[in-house]
Amino acid sequence: MKKYDINDDIDYTMITESELEEIVKKVASEIDRDYPDPEKRLLLLGILKGSVVFMGDLMKHIKRPVEIDFMKVSSYGASTTSSKTINIMLDLYRHDIEDLDILIVEDIIDSGRTMLYLTKYLENKGASSVKCVALLDKPSRREVDYNADYIGMEVEDKFVVGYGLDYTEKYRALPYIGVLKPEIYTKHD
Ligand code: IMP
Ligand code: MG
Repeated sequence: MKKYDINDDIDYTMITESELEEIVKKVASEIDRDYPDPEKRLLLLGILKGSVVFMGDLMKHIKRPVEIDFMKVSSYGASTTSSKTINIMLDLYRHDIEDLDILIVEDIIDSGRTMLYLTKYLENKGASSVKCVALLDKPSRREVDYNADYIGMEVEDKFVVGYGLDYTEKYRALPYIGVLKPEIYTKHD
């Protein structure tokens, strides 16, 4: 029996491992430039699970002090489209939120609904400031008026996996961003 290799499910690589490294360094330096005061507390707030790989790499390249935390936000509906309603599955429970500049770390902005909702939610909780860094952005898919503060790279309207991003919970561990072969979707649908 042929050994299973998840790389075989990928049609083509959209962003290579070394390109991702350059993208992460670029946004890390923008963040260092925009949050220059080391006395102010900056919280990197990773959105589970898609942001974990990006978060891990990003925090290593930011030179100013950062703190980290996580929230989990659900998306129901078809796995290749974004859900319309946002549900918080893991909340941010902190007594010191007004002391924090929050930088939401997200894998990809699609309709924009998740980030629009979360930004308002965290502002209402009293955060000192709320901004967002997204590894990828699909501006052509936007359904609401939302733009992230930092974007790694704009991508075309293709469903991508790898570097944290999944399809049916698979492919998160791929070290690059790739586009799945069409037969992978049809197999599951
Ligand atoms: P939005 O609320 O429509 O902006 O949804 C963004 C979320 O949809 C991301 O955090 C991902 O979980 C998911 N998503 C959107 N596009 C993709 C994709 O191409 N690959 C994997 N997940 C995606
Ligand atoms: Mg997500």
